[in-house]
Amino acid sequence: MTTAIYGVGAMGGAILDGLTAHGDGEVLAVARTPERATELRERYADRPAVEVVDASTAAARADVHLVVVKPYAVADLLAQVRDSLRPGSVVVSLALGVSLADLAAALPDGVAAVRGMPNTPARVGQGMTVLSPAADVTDEQLQLVRDVLVPTGATLVLPEAQQGAATAMSGSAPAYFYLVVEAMVDAGVAQGLSRSDALALAGQAARGAGAMLVETGAEAALLRAQVTSPGGSTAAALARLEAHGVRHALADAVAACAERAG
Ligand SMILES: NC(=O)c1ccc[n+]([C@@H]2O[C@H](COP(=O)([O-])OP(=O)(O)OC[C@H]3O[C@@H](n4cnc5c(N)ncnc54)[C@H](OP(=O)(O)O)[C@@H]3O)[C@@H](O)[C@H]2O)c1
Repeated sequence: MTTAIYGVGAMGGAILDGLTAHGDGEVLAVARTPERATELRERYADRPAVEVVDASTAAARADVHLVVVKPYAVADLLAQVRDSLRPGSVVVSLALGVSLADLAAALPDGVAAVRGMPNTPARVGQGMTVLSPAADVTDEQLQLVRDVLVPTGATLVLPEAQQGAATAMSGSAPAYFYLVVEAMVDAGVAQGLSRSDALALAGQAARGAGAMLVETGAEAALLRAQVTSPGGSTAAALARLEAHGVRHALADAVAACAERAG
């Protein structure tokens, strides 16, 4: 299995790290300039599964093509590789707002298109990629894409109309949690903790809470209730968060993101 990654920036680099740390297939990292190729070869010198190539070479060799360039660069990239893509291969655009209709217009017949939205915890194998396949993508092709992404974390298949909501709830969502942890660290320092201790405590609380949600499948409200004794200290903290409008702030934030990303 050969996977090509076009665009080894913040997101593509996270996916590449996830794939090569936990996966076993060949990964073609696409560089668009000789300088960038040299830089990527040096960066990934310790990972034999990674080969740095140009876009046309990747297009001719890969089974699955992960397009992780900025949205405005997708059309030019696909125009460049269009004639080299093999029939039966699958192009997965992970670029915000690039629609399946845009992809269909840019790709030759016989090349399947999937629209996706990843997030950066892919780097540590804890990402989520929301996938929306075009109507002509076979079950086998969709499963192939999901299998390729396993080392980066989970996948979820949703209709394309829900990609905006998925971006607000997943693609952008790590940033919300980082903001919360950042604020908690400042608050912990105000309580006399060192920054490193405050970060260790808040980070592990975030990791533990996330693992509880994913591994138990329980509603967040139930898990929260289990930490909240009547009239206790957690209840006091939660009452302040509610008084400061944390629910409204999150609803507003998710709606703003979904509106832009849809
Ligand atoms: N960052 C996130 O958390 C996140 C989450 C979900 C989705 N995404 C999506 O991921 C995509 C990339 O975002 P990013 O944040 O990773 O941006 P980024 O850090 O700017 O990375 C983009 C990369 O694409 C490369 N590139 C541009 N044109 C190319 C081409 N023709 N061939 C090969 N490489 C090319 C650039 O390489 P050069 O160094 O040569 O310029 C750069 O390394 C966007 O479409 C975004 O919507 C990002």
